[in-house]
Amino acid sequence: MYENRFKPAHKPIKDYYKSVASLSKTGAKHETALRAAFQELLTTVARKQGWTFVPENPVTVKGHRVVPDGTLLNEHNIPRGYWEAKDLADDLDAEIQKKKTKDYPLNNIIFENGRDAVLYQNGIEVSRKDLTDAEQLCQLLNIFIEYTPKEMQTFAQAVAKFKEDVPELAAGLEKKITKAHEKNPAFKKAFADFFELCRSSLNPNISQHAVDEMLVQHLLTQRLFRTVFHRQDFTRRNVIANEVEKVIDSLHRDFDRSKFERDLDYFYKAIEQTARTLEDYSQKQAFMNTVYEEFFKGFSPKTADTHGIVYTPQEIVDFMCASVDEVLQSEFGTTLGGKDVWILDPCTGTGNFMVNLINRIPLGELKDAYRKRLFANEIMLLPYYIAAMNIEHAYAERMGEYEPFEGLCFVDTLELAEDKQRDLFLSLENSKRVERQRKSPITVIIGNPPYNVGQKSENDQNKNRKYGVIDKRVKETYSADSKATNKNALSDAYVKFFRWAVDRLQGRDGIVCYVSNNSFVDQIAFDGMRKHLANCMTTSFRLGPFGGTLCLSR
Ligand SMILES: C[S@@+](CC[C@H](N)C(=O)[O-])C[C@H]1O[C@@H](n2cnc3c(N)ncnc32)[C@H](O)[C@@H]1O
Repeated sequence: MYENRFKPAHKPIKDYYKSVASLSKTGAKHETALRAAFQELLTTVARKQGWTFVPENPVTVKGHRVVPDGTLLNEHNIPRGYWEAKDLADDLDAEIQKKKTKDYPLNNIIFENGRDAVLYQNGIEVSRKDLTDAEQLCQLLNIFIEYTPKEMQTFAQAVAKFKEDVPELAAGLEKKITKAHEKNPAFKKAFADFFELCRSSLNPNISQHAVDEMLVQHLLTQRLFRTVFHRQDFTRRNVIANEVEKVIDSLHRDFDRSKFERDLDYFYKAIEQTARTLEDYSQKQAFMNTVYEEFFKGFSPKTADTHGIVYTPQEIVDFMCASVDEVLQSEFGTTLGGKDVWILDPCTGTGNFMVNLINRIPLGELKDAYRKRLFANEIMLLPYYIAAMNIEHAYAERMGEYEPFEGLCFVDTLELAEDKQRDLFLSLENSKRVERQRKSPITVIIGNPPYNVGQKSENDQNKNRKYGVIDKRVKETYSADSKATNKNALSDAYVKFFRWAVDRLQGRDGIVCYVSNNSFVDQIAFDGMRKHLANCMTTSFRLGPFGGTLCLSR
């Protein structure tokens, strides 16, 4: 029996009837009162299931954009139910017919007019209730929350099983790769080329094991890009996936790829089926964000920790992009698409900031900005792939044509400060992109850098790596000017990213806009950092909600 069933005596039900009564008394139109009270009730219903109620969340069904009055999203951002409110005077059945012709989602949707409610599941009417009767209201809500589409049950089980299986699957693949390192000359040659690419872009001291892990990540996830996002040509079009494929192809002597993919069918099929229920790209994007986080937690918790593998909630991304837009206009008299505005997200993860910016830049300026002045860096393979797809999709949606995002680099941002000879691999597309970025006069740096002070114990083996130039800069500035006796907190990757960003402006007027927590604003160890930031800001420093900081240098 389902534990969270509603009964008339339960508080949310009583509160609903109380709200209807009191809202009506305040003089609110009866209908408005009924609607507000039902929305409040659904918000509580959602919260009790661990879901979120989102008002007016657009969804694209069969190519049409529709906006139900409410959507209940589960923890993976997958819709579990919808709500559509009508007026008392409306003929509810006629209104439902209208919505049906507009292709409203009919898998678990309540249509109601404050008095009557009709519930549709799997495209058919399954229940009709009188909302003025508490017993009937509870029955309606119980059928509504207990509905789980079959494919979603399979999905939840498959994700749980996949998370459990990932370490074993990865270990099996790693064994095959180790054998190939020893005995397969074609693999050794292909691997050596990719290894050099990683050395030049990511870390000159990168271990062979770290690169082996990338091959494993690629093998475990690339089918999702092909099927969830309908990008059959993903591995051909993405410049890094293309390089990885060459290495994997050379494995064929030791590894039956199609059998491997067949063995994972239970996982892919469940994800693909769920993805099919997500018509809207933004839902797929949110869903992929979840897969990204969950995958890393199962695959490599230490990597997830050192690199800060966590996506940035849309509200924060939206607030920060809007702030930059506003500051560009008010302080610099220019705009996001302006020819003098060169934007970089140095730790792009799944590309959420770039997607938001692409949606803000006026259409007439977008092509030029996209081709020349937008840049994003990512150090991990899986988020890099997701970022490429998300950003390129956002651009194609607005411009009506696909164009690869050449501003995206597979690179360690902090490593870019090291003054090294990097023409070695200029024949490779990724290195060309990195070079173009290095030569660009960046003026806006926006993003959510990783937070990590370092390992908790010497045995953890997940130490933050050392960066000659940036570490020295932090020491000479933020650390030298700090009065704190314990300065350990300054080894945080976030501090390095701030130092790097301010230096990257190379004395130009510009903006650095990062997500931050409060410790940077009031903790003693950051006194030197605050002093330096204050010195470079002559115009304004803004603190937003979520602790987001905006630093402006002029
Ligand atoms: C907090 S997440 C950013 C999330 C991103 N805004 C999103 O919504 O997906 C930090 C990201 O920075 C990446 N990262 C960490 N260190 C990096 C480095 N040195 N260079 C480039 N990217 C890095 C991580 O792999 C991770 O994807």
